[in-house]
Amino acid sequence: MQNINWEALGFDAYTTKTLIQARCIDGKWQPITETDNFSFTLDPFACMMHYAISCFEGLKVFRQKDGKVAIFRPDENAKRLKRTADFLGLPAPDEAKFFDMCERCVKANLEYLPPYGHDASMYLRPLLIGTKPKMQLTPPNEVLFTIMCAPVGSYYGGKMRSIPAVIPLNYDRAAPHGSGGYKVAANYAGTFKPYQIAHDQGYTELLFLNSQTHEFIDEFGSSNFFGIKGDKYVTPLSDSVLPSITNKTLQQVAEDFGMTVERRAVPYQELSEFEGVAACGTAVVLLPVSRIDMKPVLEEPAVSHHFEYCKDAEVNPTIKKLYDRIIDIQFGNVEDTHGWCHIVEGI
Ligand SMILES: Cc1ncc(COP(=O)(O)O)c(C=O)c1O
Repeated sequence: MQNINWEALGFDAYTTKTLIQARCIDGKWQPITETDNFSFTLDPFACMMHYAISCFEGLKVFRQKDGKVAIFRPDENAKRLKRTADFLGLPAPDEAKFFDMCERCVKANLEYLPPYGHDASMYLRPLLIGTKPKMQLTPPNEVLFTIMCAPVGSYYGGKMRSIPAVIPLNYDRAAPHGSGGYKVAANYAGTFKPYQIAHDQGYTELLFLNSQTHEFIDEFGSSNFFGIKGDKYVTPLSDSVLPSITNKTLQQVAEDFGMTVERRAVPYQELSEFEGVAACGTAVVLLPVSRIDMKPVLEEPAVSHHFEYCKDAEVNPTIKKLYDRIIDIQFGNVEDTHGWCHIVEGI
């Protein structure tokens, strides 16, 4: 057993024991391999490095109350990976291979799975990259699919609290009719610098509007957006938003609580009408937002709009209720009535 302080875990890269890999060459998947070598060897012309032929997934594994080990909604991640791979012109593992490799990764790295009773889990990071050395702009016939994992705590450290966000109008996340709705690596590249600037100014999250008109809310840089208005759960409907599995889960949970779910265009002016606003995703789970500033130019001090929900660190009670339910399902504290937890057998 590893000597890990489970309470002190953040959300970051981690070298565990084993990587699970499979290559697909000329449309034919090679046998799955397990390796403790955490270094890749790639041809310097490999297309993932020059042309961002790279996509990934993120899902979590939980040690549940009764000792079972559950992967949360891996069928949804397998489906989304296939969708993204299709977008890039890459072959994707089918659901059976995806499940098999996820389970192998969990079993081979079991000592890194946080025990029940800590707010911690194991994050699985499946990665699909074009390894073929090539200059032409056509899909590669050689890809590598790897699953790695990391023990993780909360994304922004510590217990649940609300955080300030900024809308940086001089940065867009994804082009109209572009790659925003897919989990491609390139979507994240353009957010590193504005994230750093925002963090230096005391904001935790970036909230992006639709690139074409800047009229509607798309999503945060790391997660989806939802707002609470009375008994309504409101979340943007947009082709440029990554279809979040956490958001889909929360919509069901909200309906289970008798709330009405609205998936529609959300004009940014509506930010003034929400009682609570939050970011949601596998990594952040659910991150309530205390206030949002809109800045015409992120680097400059001027704020054109300001929206306030609660004091920093406070949490809207409906958002807390949604969070508690999702966590309780994941850790097996309540019945999994929707069949979201995939139990890994033989552990
Ligand atoms: C840009 C973006 N939006 C939304 C999400 C949330 O998706 P999911 O709930 O499937 O993790 C993620 C990933 O966590 C993301 O990177």
